[in-house]
Amino acid sequence: MSSDTNTVSRYTTGARINHWITAVSLILLALSGMALFHPSLFFLTHLFGGGQATRAIHPWIGVVLAISFTGMFFRFFKLNLWKREDTVWIMNPGKVLNGDEEGLPEIGKYNAGQKLVFWGQSILILLLFCSGLVLWDVYFEAYTSIDQKRLSAVVHALCAIGAILIWIVHVYAAIWVKGTLRAMTRGTVTRGWSWKHHRKWLRQEVRQGTGKS
Ligand code: HEM
Repeated sequence: MSSDTNTVSRYTTGARINHWITAVSLILLALSGMALFHPSLFFLTHLFGGGQATRAIHPWIGVVLAISFTGMFFRFFKLNLWKREDTVWIMNPGKVLNGDEEGLPEIGKYNAGQKLVFWGQSILILLLFCSGLVLWDVYFEAYTSIDQKRLSAVVHALCAIGAILIWIVHVYAAIWVKGTLRAMTRGTVTRGWSWKHHRKWLRQEVRQGTGKS
């Protein structure tokens, strides 16, 4: 538990730094990737010092994202394993969206929506990284055929669209569920928030007297 009796620790400083490096790299990748994707978005290359610089920097930011997200993956994957209560939770969208979670099973550290975001981003970032390597001609041009590069370009673009959409849902949910953002800014949440949204997790925290992961 946190030293403040009204709050519960949710993230260590390390976890938060890890999360924000991931967030900043994904935003920079989306901006530089869109700049390279379509001529109408080429103006975005100004943010990165021009077309050539954008082309050179984009894959390196991808490497930062891959390393950073791998850290997040190993930190959080156990807590994101699917449980029976997640199926019940997600089958009752009406109650969840109306903030009427009473009557639904008590939820651990993450709800089904958060878990889907986690696994969705895990798969998409893996695919983005692998397809990105195939397209990184400066270093890997000789290792793959033209057809493999063509396929990778399609996979890369589709996965990027998916990752951006999931990111939008993730940020919307973090703002919409009042009291969530502070988990990643201050590292703590209120007991009221935990009782309302993650009661099973709160009970565990109270029992164990810890709150960090
Ligand atoms: C500006 C952008 C972002 C904001 C405002 C944001 C906000 C948050 C907040 C508030 C939490 C804590 C939720 C909770 O503990 O219940 C969180 C958790 C998390 N975020 Fe973000 N986030 C952003 C970008 C990203 C990106 C780009 C990724 C991955 C590609 C990401 C992946 C995660 C993961 C994996 C968790 C832990 C939850 C879980 O494992 O299910 N976030 N985020």
